[in-house]
Amino acid sequence: KDLTPIKDVYQNDFLIGNAVSAKEFEGTRLELLTMHHNVVTAENAMKPGYAYGTYPEFDFTAEDALVTDAHSAGLDMVGHVLVWHQQSEESLHTDANGDPLPREEALANLRNHVKTTVEHFGDRVISWDVVNEAMNDNPPNPSDWKASLRNSGWLKAIGTDYVKESFLAAKEALNGKDVKLYYNDYNDDNQNKAEAIYQMIKEINEEYKAENNGELLIDGMGMQAHYNLNTNPENVEKSLEKFTSVTSEVSVTELDVTAGSDNVLTEAQEVEQAYLYAQLFKLYKEYAGDIARVTFWGLNDATSWRAAQSPLLFDADLQAKEAYYAVIDPEKYI
Ligand code: G3I
Repeated sequence: KDLTPIKDVYQNDFLIGNAVSAKEFEGTRLELLTMHHNVVTAENAMKPGYAYGTYPEFDFTAEDALVTDAHSAGLDMVGHVLVWHQQSEESLHTDANGDPLPREEALANLRNHVKTTVEHFGDRVISWDVVNEAMNDNPPNPSDWKASLRNSGWLKAIGTDYVKESFLAAKEALNGKDVKLYYNDYNDDNQNKAEAIYQMIKEINEEYKAENNGELLIDGMGMQAHYNLNTNPENVEKSLEKFTSVTSEVSVTELDVTAGSDNVLTEAQEVEQAYLYAQLFKLYKEYAGDIARVTFWGLNDATSWRAAQSPLLFDADLQAKEAYYAVIDPEKYI
């Protein structure tokens, strides 16, 4: 209870966020959430597959309840995610035989999904992850970003311009509202993948800028930052350099650092994990002018999607780990 709030330490640098489900909004978990963070992302609830009751009927009841809970707790909300190959609705782009829908039909579905969702939430979210994980993991020829795209249902039905079309639909639906539009992806420290993403954002933004008085279509790059003890902060910095040169902001959207195994973290692993967190936050602070938000992907190890590898700042009993102290005072750990 007498811990320093993380959001206070970084109040002049960037927002501090976490990932939530509906069950986070009570008791000690809610206390921890509001004490340390300014903003939350739905870990699952706002993914495209949950936007429908019986497809194609939209049903945002659960999403609306979550947004209301967040706002009542004084937390801003990030929209995650509009267009993704997972936790989505196959019928948007694929027919009953598993074949891609005709391009025009899939494109109409894409536009309708994005428009309806973005209009529904309006400025109740501060940003949207518009397209998530469109790129292959380690593309061998990253200068050709189109050839580096994941062979998803959207790509098969529409082609490589589904990425730009998603952003165009979101931009139009916002109708001038100040909600930032993000591209979001993992393995963001892999330089081949970072280069392919950089090329994609650069081309899409340059085309749009030329026709729209210098305005950007893709405002931000979301570096998911699902890291591990082998992650090299120098690569993270190289990626930050690339991404900040083609966007107006970057956010760290899903940060965690795996360390132990089988729910056990040795003392040595805990120290090593804290050291990497310290290096990362030292770096993030140096880029504070470009970084809008740093979001952790879960409140504590027990509820993490990678629980067995104890990746977060608080342990199973919600007690602060070394990693928490490293985030609070990175210099002391380096
Ligand atoms: O809701 C069902 C429940 O009804 C069912 O009983 C249960 C049985 O397995 O599954 C539940 O769904 C699970 C869902 O989380 C909600 O808890 C899925 O199985 C499970 O696969 C899903 O995992 C999520 C994963 O995305 C799906 O890809 C993780 O919680 C979530 O942390 C993770 O988040 C993603 C980001 O959105 C994008 N970047 C990568 C990141 C980590 O994979």
